[in-house]
Amino acid sequence: MKKLKIASLPGDGVGKEVVPAAQTVLKAISDVHGGLRFDFTEYPWSCEHYLKHDQMMPDDALDKLKDADAIFLGAVGNQKLVPDHISLWGMLIKIRREFEQVINIRPAKLLKGITSPLANPKDFDLLVVRENSEGEYSEVGGRIFRGEDEVAIQNAVFSRRGSERAMRYAFELAAKRKKHVTSATKSNGIVHSMPFWDEVFQSVKTDYPDIGTDSQHIDALAAFFVTQPQRFDVIVASNLFGDVLTDIGAAIMGSIGIAPAANINVNGKYPSMFEPVHGSAPDIVGKGIANPIGQIWTAKLMLDHFGEEELGNKLLDIIEDVTAAGILTPDLGGKYGTKEVTGAIAERILKL
Ligand code: NAI
Ligand code: MG
Repeated sequence: MKKLKIASLPGDGVGKEVVPAAQTVLKAISDVHGGLRFDFTEYPWSCEHYLKHDQMMPDDALDKLKDADAIFLGAVGNQKLVPDHISLWGMLIKIRREFEQVINIRPAKLLKGITSPLANPKDFDLLVVRENSEGEYSEVGGRIFRGEDEVAIQNAVFSRRGSERAMRYAFELAAKRKKHVTSATKSNGIVHSMPFWDEVFQSVKTDYPDIGTDSQHIDALAAFFVTQPQRFDVIVASNLFGDVLTDIGAAIMGSIGIAPAANINVNGKYPSMFEPVHGSAPDIVGKGIANPIGQIWTAKLMLDHFGEEELGNKLLDIIEDVTAAGILTPDLGGKYGTKEVTGAIAERILKL
């Protein structure tokens, strides 16, 4: 019996609706699998926690989380109660940084029964591996002078270690998929960091002779995500490029409510964190119509991470069965609620 300790952090808003939904699905998986059990410990850290205790998480929060096998997070943020920079930096970003979750992965795939905003989306199935710790999102820089003479300098930081780590992760994933890695670059415009990124990519790829590669400038790549997303398998990108690309990826899938993500710790010192792309969706909270698929697909990424890829793939097939059957929430043009979509997925799992 494989027992997995999962720290569950529903957070705010619809996080509290979709995390329990995904837990129902994981429970169904352990019911049919037998050899796999998920032990959830739930922590109520949120903006409401902040109002009561003046902090998003208690002082010993990271200590509590560090022995979990994974962290399963819903969404953080409620601007009516707490400014976003306090809530997100006090919880989500703190965990990502302190637990050295240096890689962010976000798949984008066209699911049957879901209308993409693209007129002719073909069958795309891609995965962006984003460097999650450095690059353009660095704290190096500053501002000098005030008024008309003011100058702001923001430095991008690219280390060989950080770049190589993201690229190797991308190659390992591609080996299990369609065996192709595209590197997002901009060495025609950014003359120091991007030629360096390209050099590291050229050297890393020699270790993976079976994997095809290409490099694309980020502007052209962004356009191809819209015009020909089906041509990609795995894309490796710096922090900023990956951030922008993955939003396009989520958009072409048809709703942010279905897009999954994972923040991966690769040195094994701390747990990885699995969270959907969407936020707390304050406009639909409490209505019972939040799409649970983003959180459930996130659970699939967690299964993959635990080496249960076969199970993860089955779960994604079942999600697609349900979307193909037209059991959709309103964000996808459907008339069903969170409970019905979750129930339809869990029911199909129990029939496996
Ligand atoms: P959002 O993702 O919460 O909502 C954007 C739009 O997508 C809304 O119309 C919402 O109803 C819809 N939507 C989101 N998730 C959905 C779901 N599961 N099913 C159906 N529709 C869904 O982004 P927004 O409104 O910019 O941010 C709201 C709060 O969430 C803010 O406090 C923000 O800081 C926070 N946030 C947190 C994130 C996280 O925890 N990783 C990510 C993005 C935003
Ligand atoms: Mg973003």
